[in-house]
Amino acid sequence: MAKTRTQYVCQQCGRVSPRELGRCPQCGSWNSMVEEVVAPPPGASKGAVRGLSARSSPRRISDISEDVEERLLLPIGEFARVLGGGVVPGSIVLIGGDPGIGKSTLLLQTALEMAHRDPVLYVSGEESERQIKMRAVRLLRGGAENNIPDNLFLVTETNLDLILEHVAAVKPRLLIVDSIQTTTLPELESSAGSVSQVRESASRLRELAKSSGISVFLIGHVTKEGTIAGPRVLEHIVDTVLYLEGDRFQSYRLLRSIKNRFGATSEVGVFEMSERGMAEITNPSEAFLAERMVNAPGSSIVVTMEGTRPLLVEIQGLTSHTSFGNPRRTPNGVDFNRLLLTVAVLSRRVGLRLAEQDVFVNVVGGLKVSEPAADLAVAAAIASSTRDVPVRADTVLIGEIGLSGELRMVNQMPARLREAAKLGFKAAIVPRRSRRSEPWPEDIQVLESRSLRQALEFALLAVEEKSGAI
Ligand code: TYD
Ligand code: MG
Repeated sequence: MAKTRTQYVCQQCGRVSPRELGRCPQCGSWNSMVEEVVAPPPGASKGAVRGLSARSSPRRISDISEDVEERLLLPIGEFARVLGGGVVPGSIVLIGGDPGIGKSTLLLQTALEMAHRDPVLYVSGEESERQIKMRAVRLLRGGAENNIPDNLFLVTETNLDLILEHVAAVKPRLLIVDSIQTTTLPELESSAGSVSQVRESASRLRELAKSSGISVFLIGHVTKEGTIAGPRVLEHIVDTVLYLEGDRFQSYRLLRSIKNRFGATSEVGVFEMSERGMAEITNPSEAFLAERMVNAPGSSIVVTMEGTRPLLVEIQGLTSHTSFGNPRRTPNGVDFNRLLLTVAVLSRRVGLRLAEQDVFVNVVGGLKVSEPAADLAVAAAIASSTRDVPVRADTVLIGEIGLSGELRMVNQMPARLREAAKLGFKAAIVPRRSRRSEPWPEDIQVLESRSLRQALEFALLAVEEKSGAI
């Protein structure tokens, strides 16, 4: 028998090296090179899935039909939205996220919905058939077992060769593999979840999707470092990458598109983890503002953009006298460095005395707001807490803060303002525009402000009618 050859593969970026290295030459991460057995050379068994493949042949581009591919109907609207409107036949989609966030739940719900029209095969390497059945029963409204569609097939299997045989037998239109980390190819000697197993399994499933027109959903766990399955290479193999994220202690879940060959990226779908699985939140802004205390100091509202979707979120700030030597700055849901910048500008340009104050900032609902457009609302929440004066309740604040204490314009302002108006907000404090290409929406009073100081003066003023620029 030939001696098994090994190689070293970076768990972060998938770089392969014949020698052991302490540091990956590609991505620079330390101690990430792990020894793996080299796959046998592609032989007869590799390649097309028997019985499903079609031979390829070059065609004139003029002969290729440009009709929009018909998508499989996906009755979960928030999910369909993130995919760009339904499931594309022959596409392969990776759904990543932390363990326990709700990936299996969401995909089982999807399977139950889609199996009313098309055959679906759910392959699990993580849970037993009985467990999945119990979950399915729980997910269905009314809890009645006879609501389970006949066309949903379930199998507990990790061996990819056998999975492909099951696919050939069931001939589903949608295949769900839960998860890619448990799927193994017996001819590879490395263990399940290793870079080569994950990469090879995904490539094989992609081949299946492309040759047969079956749509494939892969579930992948995100490692602590935030990369799917260790190697980023997986993201290049699939057509679409979605992340399910959220705070485990909060019920909201955001399904975010990171890459999409068939639709817009950075679309989000919003769900709430409920007793009966993932419930769609079709009006997230209302949900995020539901528990807000109007006229309490230390709270402000920003309109943030998640892809093309404006979301109103509440930002809370609290300042309290430092009891230890160094004042603390504690962000929850906003970027730490942006918080430091905002605090510095508030001290130097607005004259707020924060040197001996601990500053806490929290985004309500477990959301993460990373865009600079939230700077102004963060600053207002902090200033409001320090001065113990509430921010005007009917007003949203949108704008980036510059180091000189100026306010800077952010993108997609009209869409943000329209969303605020839709939810009944009467006024918006925004940066001054330099170009007046598009008129502001009519149904909200827009107050343009050049500086953070001016904006705060207005936001923290007792409610009093003002109009035009300040
Ligand atoms: P799961 O889908 O198993 O997570 P993942 O596949 O991403 O690891 O979700 C598990 C969590 O969801 C678990 O903590 C229980 C909770 N859950 C509900 O709150 N309601 C439900 O209806 C279901 C099925 C699960
Ligand atoms: Mg799971």
